[in-house]
Amino acid sequence: MDIVELIKDDHKTVDGLFQEINSLVDNREPIPDELLITLITELSSHLEAEEKVLYARLKEEKGFTELMEEGVEEHSEISQLIDEIQNHRDSLEAVADKLNDLQDQVEHHVEVEESETLPKVKSLWAAEFLEQLAEEMKDAKRDIQSGAPSPSHQERDIHY
Ligand SMILES: [Fe+2]
Ligand SMILES: [Fe+2]
Repeated sequence: MDIVELIKDDHKTVDGLFQEINSLVDNREPIPDELLITLITELSSHLEAEEKVLYARLKEEKGFTELMEEGVEEHSEISQLIDEIQNHRDSLEAVADKLNDLQDQVEHHVEVEESETLPKVKSLWAAEFLEQLAEEMKDAKRDIQSGAPSPSHQERDIHY
């Protein structure tokens, strides 16, 4: 698996969680805390690991400036919405509202990544390096989810 496939898998996981939550909201059923926490954990760790492993490197490459500025801005808007949801966890209506906004933002962001950023990434680096990045992103996500600090990519860079 390479980093492009890994990122798309993460996007699918998050989309599936949104669908699950939406069907509960549609039936006016409460959203279990565990489901909300899973969504937030998956999404936050994806954003952070993606920035750390992929965006940090793309910022050093030519032709990614605009995409990276837009991407980071969207990540911070998404993170802000996540914070707001966490602060309103006691009100189903407020959460449902914010979740709608969050889903819209995430869907827009995913579309840009999958149609513009990732195809460019795929042709930028060799297959072996793209696979190495997938391993780094998995490690980074795991570290983030367990709350452990992980080394920045500069410290663990391998020659390519
Ligand atoms: Fe992403
Ligand atoms: Fe992203």
